Amino acid sequence: MTAQLALPHPTLPDPRTAPALGWGILGPGWIAAQFGLSLAAMTSSRVAAVGSRSLERSGSFARQYGDAGSRAYGSYAAVLADPAVDVAYVAVPHSGHRDLALQAITAGKHVVVEKPLALDAVQAQEIAAAARAAGVFAMEAMWTRMLPVGNVLRQVLEHDLLGQVLSIHADFGSAMEVDHGSRLYDPALGGGALLDLGVYPVAVAALVSPADRVLHASGRLTGTGVDATFTAVIANADGSTASIFSSIEAASPQRAWIAGTRGTLELGHPLYAPSRLVLRTPEGAVADTMDFTEDSPATGLGWEAAHVARCLERGLTESPLMPLDESVAIARTMDDIAARLRDR
Ligand SMILES: NC(=O)c1ccc[n+]([C@@H]2O[C@H](COP(=O)([O-])OP(=O)(O)OC[C@H]3O[C@@H](n4cnc5c(N)ncnc54)[C@H](OP(=O)(O)O)[C@@H]3O)[C@@H](O)[C@H]2O)c1
Repeated sequence: MTAQLALPHPTLPDPRTAPALGWGILGPGWIAAQFGLSLAAMTSSRVAAVGSRSLERSGSFARQYGDAGSRAYGSYAAVLADPAVDVAYVAVPHSGHRDLALQAITAGKHVVVEKPLALDAVQAQEIAAAARAAGVFAMEAMWTRMLPVGNVLRQVLEHDLLGQVLSIHADFGSAMEVDHGSRLYDPALGGGALLDLGVYPVAVAALVSPADRVLHASGRLTGTGVDATFTAVIANADGSTASIFSSIEAASPQRAWIAGTRGTLELGHPLYAPSRLVLRTPEGAVADTMDFTEDSPATGLGWEAAHVARCLERGLTESPLMPLDESVAIARTMDDIAARLRDR
């Protein structure tokens, strides 16, 4: 008799029960604000310090997202020198990730770097090597994996519920405002769909299996020379293939599916924090569904902060959910896709 297909329940403890950390925010922009909201609402941790290129901006962030003891600085370096900071959160545009991560590591701070870890695999490897040499914790902020939905997805894969996975599809396209002055369109800031949005579908594929090679990538560039829209096909080490779509100019369903010999798992919109999982039998019938409420950074980043606190409590220097070697491998896949898009 075949066992009935069913989704496992999330096994994550309440984020509020994780140890309290003092976070040092580097770059008080949009995602940092979501992080600050989520930290206050969902965890026992706090914004210990915030750094900006402008003291006015860091002061305003500290007042809005910190507490009476949160310190505001007019530089990022000052945050890294503050003893109240246990872990630095690098939330500047991608082009600044490597340098700030290395500065945090040199200062002896643990560091969480917004996605993508760096502009390319060489930079990502530099961060990994420096963190290992210094013995500090470092992680790419691939928060999807730390959410309850990510926990269930991992259990589905670890328990082999889908049988042999044959194919994966994941897409993240969003019709963003065309703004040649924004970081998304600026080559100097690491603009383009791939590094900003495409990293999510590439990370979904990498969760199933390490990539072996990129078979195909084609798309179009913006007038500023960054990638605007692309489709890529990846051959994975386990023999499966993954098709990836990403765009900053066209909206896509922002979903994923993982098709195996014993079942198919569908990840509902939005791809960065799927609000629903649907498990189907090989015949296509719905075997189980599960809904999730953490579908935005403001309601989800607290899970990531709690995960980091629990890793540190256990003395870990890497996250088992987002290990540095996997971030480097994801960066390598993106390098390959980027090279093909440039040479099209
Ligand atoms: N996890 C997620 O869901 C998610 C969502 C959005 C973005 N992100 C990631 O977070 C990072 C920041 O994105 P964001 O949308 O928050 O960007 P943003 O709103 O533009 O904020 C970035 C901040 O970085 C600082 N900064 C330092 N150098 C800069 C430069 N040369 N140009 C512009 N700003 C600079 C700025 O603060 P000061 O000038 O005040 O220092 C700015 O407030 C990106 O790497 C992105 O991939 C993650």
